[in-house]
Amino acid sequence: MYVLGIESTSHTFGVGIVEYDGKDRVRILSNVSDQYKPLSGGIHPREAAIHHTRIAPLILKKALKEASLSLREIDVYAIALGPGLGPCLRVGASIARFLASYYKKPLIPVNHAVAHIEIGKFINKFKDPVVLYVSGGNTLVAVQRKSRYRVLGETLDIPLGNMFDTFTREIGLAPPYVVDGKHKIDICAEWGSEFISLPYTVKGSDLSFSGLLTAALNLARKHIGNKEMIGNICLSVREIAFNMLVEVTERALVLTRKHEVLLVGGVASNRCLRTKLETMAKHHKSTYGGTPIEYAGDNGAMIAYTGLLAYIHGIAVKPEDAFIRQRWRVDEVDLPWLKNY
Ligand code: FE2
Repeated sequence: MYVLGIESTSHTFGVGIVEYDGKDRVRILSNVSDQYKPLSGGIHPREAAIHHTRIAPLILKKALKEASLSLREIDVYAIALGPGLGPCLRVGASIARFLASYYKKPLIPVNHAVAHIEIGKFINKFKDPVVLYVSGGNTLVAVQRKSRYRVLGETLDIPLGNMFDTFTREIGLAPPYVVDGKHKIDICAEWGSEFISLPYTVKGSDLSFSGLLTAALNLARKHIGNKEMIGNICLSVREIAFNMLVEVTERALVLTRKHEVLLVGGVASNRCLRTKLETMAKHHKSTYGGTPIEYAGDNGAMIAYTGLLAYIHGIAVKPEDAFIRQRWRVDEVDLPWLKNY
């Protein structure tokens, strides 16, 4: 059986195809994507949607070619219906609705956040991890319980990726936000050597990044042009933000007495965060699992894989009922494959 997944929740338009042997073997056959990159500022939803509309046929063709399949051979279509940016979500949803209707195949609704977690579990062969999900649009710690992912802690204001993007943009270092696979905050942190005290805000298991961002920006604006000082600020912002994440993840691990720590989402490819979490997991005799860059950022393969899980467990939606949900929280989704936890 072949499942084709479409991702278009934010800046990425992606198509992935997975193969299922009907028993226990799942293989990712293709994972192709393209990103909208703003020339200035942050993501403009309408411009990103125009990018997705233009690139969609090419990405679809490439994904099918990589998998050596034609559209007629696809058995199931999966679509990320949320959370995300309305105009972007509508592009993917329209294409998926059309394909499922035209070829008379099942259409599976997928929550984007659930897909990030499931692909991480699949790659690491994890069963029951404490999940740290960090990206441009999300920052949360979750565990599975009674058919759902339960959020133990999350950002109270802006997500971490958004904070890094805003900071580097406001001090003139971005866009582009990523160069050769490295985020600008990491490149800038290499210029620094000294730690500067900035707000560290953990409230119970929740986090806040807005105070850190404001304090760092106020300080950086006084030192524009001073490479070493800007480097020190970048280094300190990154260290403080990552230490906050490690603290809330560690608390969740100790509280739930689980033995796996999983890092997913766009920021999961960050080496510094990986090292910190791995050290913490080792300290608690737990196994750490990360997500390779190809599957850490938004991608179609994670939608196809999660769509497969949902399809096997009887979840499907009529194309005319496949509405987008811009604020679809991870803990609102019933997932039958988690019922034993
Ligand atoms: Fe994402």
